[in-house]
Amino acid sequence: MSQAAADIVLAELAKKPKMVLGLPTGTTPIGMYDALAKAHKEDKVDFSGVTTFNLDEYVGLAPDHEQSYWYFMNKYLYSRTNLKRENVHVPNGAAQDLDARFAREYDEMIKNSGGIDLFVVGIGQNGHIAFNEPAAEMPAFTHVVELTQNTINANARLFDDISQVPRKALTQGMATIMHAKKILLLAGGPAKRDAIKRMTSGVLTLDCPASLLNLHPDVTILDC
Ligand code: GLP
Repeated sequence: MSQAAADIVLAELAKKPKMVLGLPTGTTPIGMYDALAKAHKEDKVDFSGVTTFNLDEYVGLAPDHEQSYWYFMNKYLYSRTNLKRENVHVPNGAAQDLDARFAREYDEMIKNSGGIDLFVVGIGQNGHIAFNEPAAEMPAFTHVVELTQNTINANARLFDDISQVPRKALTQGMATIMHAKKILLLAGGPAKRDAIKRMTSGVLTLDCPASLLNLHPDVTILDC
């Protein structure tokens, strides 16, 4: 799955060397990042023209925090490729005025980049995409969200203690994700089966935010 995902990214990049890539964190995409780093090491790919925008970040975690998504991206991708630092973006969970100012600026940057060509996303056990949690309603664009207990429990394995898992996150909204030209969804393992089943059942519901991807004309799902 990871090699297939990397091959899709590399194929899009070959078509458009200055592509804009939307990227996820989580355990699932690590193998894809390994494969992209390997391709770079073997001189098979040049990331110097690529711009990236990450999906989300925990509120309160600065980029140098070991559990921050910036730290993750630097470890698995930025430090292992020739992506230019000025071209990579992860929402800053420690920024001032997150909802009022930072979120608007993040959306503006994505818009000014020309929009996302390929968005690679993961899926939560509860059907969330990025941190768009199941809810009766949700903001369409980048916003601060309260994490559900399901997500806190699922992500606790990456922290020393569940009490350290932030209760809020900043996430791109479903509208920005849906505006990407192409979406690639990665889902690994039995814990995601139920979410994938709900997503592909043909029913649209904000109780499973991933189901909105049914409205997009170009979605590839890779699961294992
Ligand atoms: C977090 C992220 C999501 C990701 C999900 C699944 O909640 N915000 O973007 O899809 O984790 O992660 P994993 O791949 O570790 O199961």
